[in-house]
Amino acid sequence: MQRYEVHPAHSTSPLQLTRFDPAPLGDNQVAVAIKAVSLNYRDILVSQNTYFSPIPDGLVPCSDGAGEVVAVGKEVRGLSIGDRVATLFFPRWQSGPPEAASISGALGAEMDGALTEHFVSEESGLIKIPDAISFSEAATLPCAALTAWNALFEAGNLKPGQTVLLLGTGGVSIFALQFAKAAGARVIITSSDDSKLEHAQRLGADHGINYKTFPDWAQEVLRLTAGQGVDVVVEVGGPGTLERSLMSLRTGGRIAYIGVLTGLAAQANPVMLIPKVASIHGIFVGNRAMFSAMLDAIARHGIQPVIDREFPFAEAPAALTRLRSGGHFGKIVIQVGN
Ligand SMILES: NC(=O)c1ccc[n+]([C@@H]2O[C@H](COP(=O)([O-])OP(=O)(O)OC[C@H]3O[C@@H](n4cnc5c(N)ncnc54)[C@H](OP(=O)(O)O)[C@@H]3O)[C@@H](O)[C@H]2O)c1
Repeated sequence: MQRYEVHPAHSTSPLQLTRFDPAPLGDNQVAVAIKAVSLNYRDILVSQNTYFSPIPDGLVPCSDGAGEVVAVGKEVRGLSIGDRVATLFFPRWQSGPPEAASISGALGAEMDGALTEHFVSEESGLIKIPDAISFSEAATLPCAALTAWNALFEAGNLKPGQTVLLLGTGGVSIFALQFAKAAGARVIITSSDDSKLEHAQRLGADHGINYKTFPDWAQEVLRLTAGQGVDVVVEVGGPGTLERSLMSLRTGGRIAYIGVLTGLAAQANPVMLIPKVASIHGIFVGNRAMFSAMLDAIARHGIQPVIDREFPFAEAPAALTRLRSGGHFGKIVIQVGN
């Protein structure tokens, strides 16, 4: 069997392909032949050991995989050989509010992840996927899609007719675009690239703002909302965009605080939270119950994940390079196995 490992302390190459022999399966464990993996911005941080938590040497990266069950331990009750499944980002967070214990053991950072031909998990760390979704599509869901879902409908409490602001056209933002439009919301999206804005508008975005052409994009957002501002911001930029996101918000609006695309170090002044009577809510992906609700909505609305490009397993490093380039729109997928 083959898998990728990261050795940030010992190698300049971000991903190393290695051979391994699978360990015997535990009684509560499930073995999955992974068919597809999707990349997230987090995988760049993991590969260079700049993620929130220190990366164990030899970690198998990536939280997002989908595949077919090929073996089950004798205590496993809910999954059988042949079932089609996706991984859970937080295998221990099944439902309810997050606890320190439930969000420990994140896949592809604290525990070995999905960039492997043979993935082993507790039964609770996997979720069945509908037949209508391909493995490549399912592999895009565990992190980016679930984060967008949580941001809009749990923390953001987005309602039909409300307006949401999305930053950039990466994985989280494009899922947020698709979910928000399916929910009857109005979408304003930013990008550094006019052709990506056109693509977003073809997917239903109501307005696009080029944040390079309009560095003061909050003023554009206010103009587009008759000075009122938006109800929800899906904040993937971090410290470098937070102040403008706050300026873009209507009175009583909500910021779902998600990302670090502008880095971790910059300072942001949150003072506008006061006159906006706004709230800011940290988001960390989501739980199994949210994943289930999201799968129902995807089926109900016929939402198809937007895949920028698929790479063969042998070209996983090139897939990571594409992600790092920022040239993508939506999700990048790596095909695994046959
Ligand atoms: N908290 C969580 O649970 C959670 C979950 C998922 C992701 N995240 C974080 O959310 C962020 C996005 O993740 P992702 O996987 O969606 O990333 P991604 O797919 O790599 O998206 C990157 C895109 O973001 C846009 N971007 C970059 N800098 C920007 C800026 N200053 N302002 C506006 N847009 C900018 C660019 O879009 P254009 O090319 O259109 O300009 C770029 O292509 C990352 O920081 C990631 O770590 C957090």
